[in-house]
Amino acid sequence: APVGRETFSSRKLFILSAIGSAVGLGNIWRFPYIAYENGGGAFLIPYLAALLSAGIPLLFLDYAIGHKFRGSAPLAYRRMHRGAEVLGWWQVLVCFIIAIYYAVIIAWAAMYTWFSVTQAWGDDPGSFFTGEFLGVSETVNVGFNFVPGVFWPLLITWIAVIGIMVAGVRKGISRANGFFLPLLVVMFVLLVAQSLFLPGAIDGLNAFFTPDWAALGDPGVWAAAYGHIFFSLSVAFGIMVTYSSYLKRKTDLTGSGMVVAFSNSAFEILAGIGVFAALGFMAFTAGSAVGDVAVPGIGLAFIAFPTIVSEAPLGGLMGVLFFGSLVFAGITSLISILEVIVAAVQDKMGWPRVKASLAVSIPVAFISLLLFPTATGLYLLDTFDAFVNSFGILAGALVAVILVAWVLRKLPMLSDHLNKVSSVRMRTVWIGLVAVVAPVVLGYILINEFISKIGTTYEDYPAWFVGVFGWGMAAALVVVAVVLTLIPWSPKSKLHHD
Ligand code: PHE
Ligand code: NA
Repeated sequence: APVGRETFSSRKLFILSAIGSAVGLGNIWRFPYIAYENGGGAFLIPYLAALLSAGIPLLFLDYAIGHKFRGSAPLAYRRMHRGAEVLGWWQVLVCFIIAIYYAVIIAWAAMYTWFSVTQAWGDDPGSFFTGEFLGVSETVNVGFNFVPGVFWPLLITWIAVIGIMVAGVRKGISRANGFFLPLLVVMFVLLVAQSLFLPGAIDGLNAFFTPDWAALGDPGVWAAAYGHIFFSLSVAFGIMVTYSSYLKRKTDLTGSGMVVAFSNSAFEILAGIGVFAALGFMAFTAGSAVGDVAVPGIGLAFIAFPTIVSEAPLGGLMGVLFFGSLVFAGITSLISILEVIVAAVQDKMGWPRVKASLAVSIPVAFISLLLFPTATGLYLLDTFDAFVNSFGILAGALVAVILVAWVLRKLPMLSDHLNKVSSVRMRTVWIGLVAVVAPVVLGYILINEFISKIGTTYEDYPAWFVGVFGWGMAAALVVVAVVLTLIPWSPKSKLHHD
């Protein structure tokens, strides 16, 4: 490995950072409504199946590649095989796209932490969110009419995150996770406890946990479970490859992976309980069924939750705990996304930490600030999110498993590596899951995604808009990944590992 490559100073800090990356916006608002829409309590069966059959095996694969080849995603793949470098750049670019909009949601949550105190949304949180706060324009377009109420918090978010990135693995990433993650756990446990005492909470929990067994016969429900697990565990983004490259030689990889995976799931189920208890209260005050108040997606956090904050006893506190949790969970995930890009540039150019982190973070922040705090930013965010999740992450994961398992046939070697250092050992089962189960499931989900996205224009946005920022963006990533692969490596980078 190149001299001076930083390491996490302890396994504990690595695990904290890996959990910090995994636990993000996906756990807090995505999991609860995905579970609710896909069979409620019965969703736990496909969810656990997806976790055990694909999520954890692919997490181990990322760990094995990062730890064995000790490099950022492009360098680690390149050391595995010359032709695999492009896959690493693909993951870097996916992280770039996610970073530019993920930060925006953190900025919103930061503002809503404050709004929870002032009740800025008045008595119509729905029109406040898209109207006064985001100032969303009627027409779906790209424009540069800035919305200061989003621009300033976004700028502050970026300054904080850039500070962490420049400080590096030990002084920046480890410290930020060591501080934010325990804080997040305390705040979130308080939030869940508070919501369980609200009137109507039990109805919310019943809505969440009452199984719809028929849903298990629906392939879409299984696809939703697998799709969510990949996103939630941050596998196949290059994140876990990068973080595990900073581990010391002798580290229990699979044992750490199990801790990370089960902590992430525990957090998710806790979030489901908290969010649905709160929705039960909302339904109780509105005199309607829980199903009628469960707004999906962004609306759950930024429209339904403010309503609860306004009505609940000690609602302001509840809002601060909820939106504060979103901010902390989001920041620890955002730094992991940026680290993928920073590490890649550092390796490829042979630059020192500070130079690489500034050269990456400043342009990323600039693009984020240019595109999203505008009257049309929400449309762009939504389209990027939808396309990068399906075609960026899932397609990247599919190509990775086919390449590593079938073309390069590296699984036996990677399995040896895992077993040499780890407490939880497996070989045949792991290889079977990565080589056979993962590609079949991913292939199935992707074909369905493709058919559904090609069939109708996404969200009824204009065809040109989805064409450029959905399909066009995905195609551009492939081209840019190839171009980045063609740039020569710095003479300082050792392309062959020892
Ligand atoms: N795992 C994160 C979550 O559940 C998602 C994520 C992490 C997305 C890092 C991008 C980068 O929210
Ligand atoms: Na997660």
